[in-house]
Amino acid sequence: MASLPLGNDNDLDDSQFYNRVDEISFISDNLELAKKGSTPTILLTGIRGVGKTALMKKLKKDFQNEYLVVYMDLSAMDKFKKDKLDRFCFMRLFYESIINACDESNIITIDTKILKYFKTRNFIMDKIESVDKIPIPILKTEEDYTKFTSFVMDLPQQIYDDCEEHIGGILIFMDEFQILKQLDEDVNGFLWYIRSVIQSQKNIGYIFSGSMSVKDELISDIAGQKGAFGGRILNYEIKTFSYETTKDYLAEKADYLEFTDDGFKRFYKCTNGIPYYINSFARLLPPNEELNEEKIISEFKKSLPYLLIHLTNEWYKLTKQEQRIIVALVEKPLRRIDIANKLGVKSGAIGASLKTLQNKILIELNNEKYQIYDSIFKAWLKKEYEEKGDYPY
Ligand SMILES: Nc1ncnc2c1ncn2[C@@H]1O[C@H](COP(=O)(O)OP(=O)(O)OP(=O)(O)O)[C@@H](O)[C@H]1O
Ligand SMILES: [Mg+2]
Repeated sequence: MASLPLGNDNDLDDSQFYNRVDEISFISDNLELAKKGSTPTILLTGIRGVGKTALMKKLKKDFQNEYLVVYMDLSAMDKFKKDKLDRFCFMRLFYESIINACDESNIITIDTKILKYFKTRNFIMDKIESVDKIPIPILKTEEDYTKFTSFVMDLPQQIYDDCEEHIGGILIFMDEFQILKQLDEDVNGFLWYIRSVIQSQKNIGYIFSGSMSVKDELISDIAGQKGAFGGRILNYEIKTFSYETTKDYLAEKADYLEFTDDGFKRFYKCTNGIPYYINSFARLLPPNEELNEEKIISEFKKSLPYLLIHLTNEWYKLTKQEQRIIVALVEKPLRRIDIANKLGVKSGAIGASLKTLQNKILIELNNEKYQIYDSIFKAWLKKEYEEKGDYPY
């Protein structure tokens, strides 16, 4: 019996990773331009749980016998944070990710070269420490930091130039890119800086990806007309599984689920074709038992708390005002002023909360109205209200 991956497992093996044939072929064709000397740059968007990370990890496996592939998850930047999250946290993580990729790679070795790179850069530093064999400079002065930044940003090109004969190029995947919004510095300035470096590179390919609302300002800051990468970045959206794909997927991987036609229609409606929800919900359904519409509805209600665990965790950590804003949006999308009125406060008083909720992708702004981002989360709130007479504060 084939088993479905867990909803939070994004490192899928070939027997688990389903379809995405067109996406892989399109993205691969673009990434392969790195071999010809270009710098393909892709912004991979798509709603939460649609499979961006799973896809990048799949691409990494597909490419790593010919390319050096660096996968970097920006949520790990936090571990380098001292008093503020700034570009140096980014640089340290980037550096670590590049070194890890080199370590993992079967096609190149750069252990000793790294020290040479440091030397050619004239680093004036106390000393170079080493953690897990990775040399790490100790940065003291402002100047050290600036040097380190340009050193790290140029490192992929250095490595490529040194290993040219063995590799087709270097691919850099930056996941959870939306976290840059939380930098305690001018994000746009930083994006322009990245772009200026990338622009001068050859044979290096980039994918930026992360959970972003399609209406996210970050997307226009990156890829919009006036964005840092405007006109130079390919914006590619990963779509949810279609009705047919979902049907074929479950028939192949979970043939023990006995849907009636209506039952499956309802299943698709409940999960919206989002692989995260498809896997999580399907795993909770009873095997070898008729699944008609009614059964799916009742199973879905029962499953909601498990399906939403990632969001309910967030929910309980919100401030009272943030929760009240979300509740105000359960019935319908509202303009800022209408939310403020509902809460009985001035419009200016909810600005920070709205920003936080948008950054957490719990709400999004669409045509001047705020709305709850995830319809399943909204369904959960409604259900809680119906059953308990109040929202789960
Ligand atoms: N191609 C696939 N085949 C089978 N299952 C998939 C596929 N892609 C994604 N999934 C399922 O969906 C889940 C969510 O995927 P993933 O974490 O890649 O989404 P994401 O778009 O990166 O989400 P987020 O925006 O939250 O980072 C995976 O853990 C896996 O269960
Ligand atoms: Mg992801």
